[in-house]
Amino acid sequence: MPRSIIAAVLLLLLWPLCHHRASAAEYVVGDVVGSGWDSGVNYAAWAREHTFAVGDVLVFEYVSSQHNVYEVNESTYKSCDTGAGGSNGVRAMYTSGYDTVVLAEARAYWFICNFPGHCLGGMKLAVNVSASGSGGPSPAVSQTQTDGNSNSAASIAGEGRRGWVALGLALVAIVLMNCPSFAAWQ
Ligand SMILES: *[C@@H]1O[C@H](CO)[C@@H](O)[C@H](O)[C@H]1NC(C)=O
Ligand SMILES: *[C@@H]1O[C@H](CO)[C@@H](O)[C@H](O)[C@H]1NC(C)=O
Repeated sequence: MPRSIIAAVLLLLLWPLCHHRASAAEYVVGDVVGSGWDSGVNYAAWAREHTFAVGDVLVFEYVSSQHNVYEVNESTYKSCDTGAGGSNGVRAMYTSGYDTVVLAEARAYWFICNFPGHCLGGMKLAVNVSASGSGGPSPAVSQTQTDGNSNSAASIAGEGRRGWVALGLALVAIVLMNCPSFAAWQ
C-alpha cells in the first residue's frame, strides 16, 4: 500500500513534464519516410491510429512532381473540387515534397492532394486536433498521501531494498510508456 501511494505521488509530480513534451509530437503522415503521402494509402485508418494535440506537427513527404498538399475546408475536402482557379475552399498550399504543418489550433484540419483525381481516389486526410494539456490527475491522490504517511514508515522499513528497486523500475517503465518523449526532456 505505501509503495503504491509513493508511486502515485511520483507520477503526479512527473506527469506535467510528460504532458509538456507530448504536445510537440511530430508525425510523418502515412508513416513512410520519403513517400508517406501517396496514392493508395488509407489515411482515415492512419488518422484513427493517432491522437493530435495543439503544437503537434504533420510532415508530408512525397515526390513533389507527383503530389502536393492543400489544406482545405470541410466542403472542399468532401467534394475534392478546388474549382477552376484551384483555390476554392483552400486555406494553404504546400508543394515542396517535405512539408511540415504545425497543428496550431484545436480544430479539425483537412488535407487533400490537388493533382487531378488523387483526392477523389482517396488521397485525403482529416484530423481532429485537441487542446493540449488537461486538468491532470485528481487532487484525491494527494489526499491519500497525507492519510497514508502516519503508518507508512514502519511498512517501508520492512519492505527492503529490492522493493524499492522494483518500484523505481516500474515507475521508469510507466513514465516511458505513457510519454515516449519524456526521455528527451531537457
Ligand atoms: C469552403 O470554402 C468555400 C469557398 O470559399 C465556401 O463556399 C464554402 O462554404 C466553405 N465551406 C465551409 C464548410 O466552410
Ligand atoms: C472529428 O470529430 C468529429 C466530431 O466529433 C467527428 O464527427 C469526426 O469524425 C472526427 N474526424 C476524424 C478524422 O476523426
